Amino acid sequence: MPSNTLTITDNRTGKSYEVPVENETIRAQDLRQIKVNPQDFGLMTYDPAFMNTASCKSTITYIDGDAGILRYRGYPIDQLAEKATYLEVAYLVLYGELPNKAQLADWTYNVTHHTFLHESTKHLMEAFRYDAHPMSMFISVVAALSSFYPEAKQVKDPDVRQKQIYRLIAKVPTIAAFSYRHTRGLPYVYPDNDLSYPGNFLNMLDKMTQAKYEPDPVKEHALDVLFILHADHEQNCGTNAMRAIGSSMVDPYSAMAGAAAALYGPLHGGANEEVLKMLTEIGHVKNVPAFIDRVKKKEKLLMGFGHRVYKNYDPRAKIIKKTADEVFKVTGVNPMLEIALELERIALQDDYFVSHKLYPNVDFYSGIIYQAMGFPVEFFPVLFAIPRTSGWLAQWVELVNDPDQKIARPRQIYLGADQRDFVPMDQRK
Ligand code: SDX
Repeated sequence: MPSNTLTITDNRTGKSYEVPVENETIRAQDLRQIKVNPQDFGLMTYDPAFMNTASCKSTITYIDGDAGILRYRGYPIDQLAEKATYLEVAYLVLYGELPNKAQLADWTYNVTHHTFLHESTKHLMEAFRYDAHPMSMFISVVAALSSFYPEAKQVKDPDVRQKQIYRLIAKVPTIAAFSYRHTRGLPYVYPDNDLSYPGNFLNMLDKMTQAKYEPDPVKEHALDVLFILHADHEQNCGTNAMRAIGSSMVDPYSAMAGAAAALYGPLHGGANEEVLKMLTEIGHVKNVPAFIDRVKKKEKLLMGFGHRVYKNYDPRAKIIKKTADEVFKVTGVNPMLEIALELERIALQDDYFVSHKLYPNVDFYSGIIYQAMGFPVEFFPVLFAIPRTSGWLAQWVELVNDPDQKIARPRQIYLGADQRDFVPMDQRK
C-alpha cells in the first residue's frame, strides 16, 4: 500500500526527504527542513495571490470549479435558493445545520430585534457628501460599530460572539438603507419588525408617506434569493481579508470593515457595478462584436466573466438569470439584458473565452436585476456585502476556534539592497 507521503530529492545536496500528504496537501512548514547549509532558513513556497495555497481547513462551503458545484454545509445552492429563506441559510452557514422551527423562530426574533442603529451613527453618515459612494459609508459605519460595542473585543467568548453576530446580520440592511436614503436626501426609515428580512430592507429603502410599507412580494423574494446566492464563497478575497484581520484577535466589526473594503474592489464584489458601466458603455447590441474584439486585444476586461475557481459556468449565475425573468415580469425587461445576452452568446462560443475558461460569474446578471429593481449602480456592491456578512462571520468564528490558526504573517522573498551606509545630503546624487 503506497504511503501517504511525498519523497523530495534536493538535487543541490542529493538528500531525500519524506513529507506527509494530508487532504491532498503538504504542510509548507515541512519544507523548512530542506537546506543546503545547516544555517539556511530552509525552503519556503512562493505563491503570490495564493493561487495554490490552502490557508485553512473549513467545513462551511464547498466549490468544485470544474464541475460548477457550490454547496453550503453540503446543501446544493440551487436547492437552497429554491426552498430556503436567506435567514435560514444564514443560520445554516453559521451553525452548520438547517434550523428547526424553534431555532428559526429564535434566530429570526434575535435578528429582528437588533436592526436599530445607535442614533450617533446618523451623525457619522451626515458627515459624508450627498454623492458619497455607499460602500464608503457602509465600510465606515461597520468599523464605527466597534466603538459602540467594546465588549466585542472578547472574541474568545462564545456568548459575546453570538451577540455581535445578531447585531451585524441585523444591522447591515439598516446601514445600507440609511446610506441609500442619505444619498437621496431622504429621511431615514426605521426598521419594521413585522416584515421579513428582505421586506424590512425594502421598507427602509423605499417607504415614503404611507403609514405601513408593503413590500412587493416578487422583489422581496428576488432579494431573498440573491442574498442566499451571495452568503458565502469559501476563501475569496473578502473572506481572506476577514480571516487575516481576524487572526490578530481584533473585534468582528473591525475585521468585517476590512472584508467589506476588499469586496469593494472592481475585481471582486465591485464587479457587478462595473458590469453595468460596461453594458452602458457598449450601449447597443450592434456594438458588442467591437467590444469583444477589444477584450481579446486585452484593452478591456469582460466584467462579470471569469473566476479564480469556476472554470465552468458559475452555478449562481444560472439561478440569477432565472430570477431575472421573475423580476422583469414586475419591473419590465431591463434593456441592458439584450446586450448582456448577446455578450454571453458570443463569449460562450468564441475560442478566446472558451480557451481561457471564461464564463459568466455571479456578478454578470445580478447588476441587471438590481438596476431593474431601481437600485443605483453604485449600490450594487452594498447589496453583495449585506448577505456576505453571514459568510464572513461564519468564517471568522471558524478561524477563532481553529487550533491550527495563529496571527497571519506571510514570509517574503527579499530582493532588495544589501547593507549600505547612510549617505549625507551633500553627497547624494
Ligand atoms: C467575485 O473568489 C470568489 O469566490 C469571488 C466571488 C465571491 O463570491 O466572493 O465569486 C465574487 O468576485 C466574482 C468575480 C467578479 N469579478 C469580475 O467579474 C471581474 C472580471 N473578472 C476578472 O478580473 C477575473 O476573471 C477574476 C479576477 C475574477 C479572476 O482572475 P484570475 O483567476 O486571477 O485570472 P487572471 O486574471 O489571471 O486571468 C487569467 C486569464 C488572463 O489572460 P492571459 O494573460 O492568461 O492571456 O484570463 C483572462 C486574463 O487576461 N481573463 C479575462 C477575464 N478574466 C480573466 N479576460 C477578459 N475578461 C475577463 N473578465
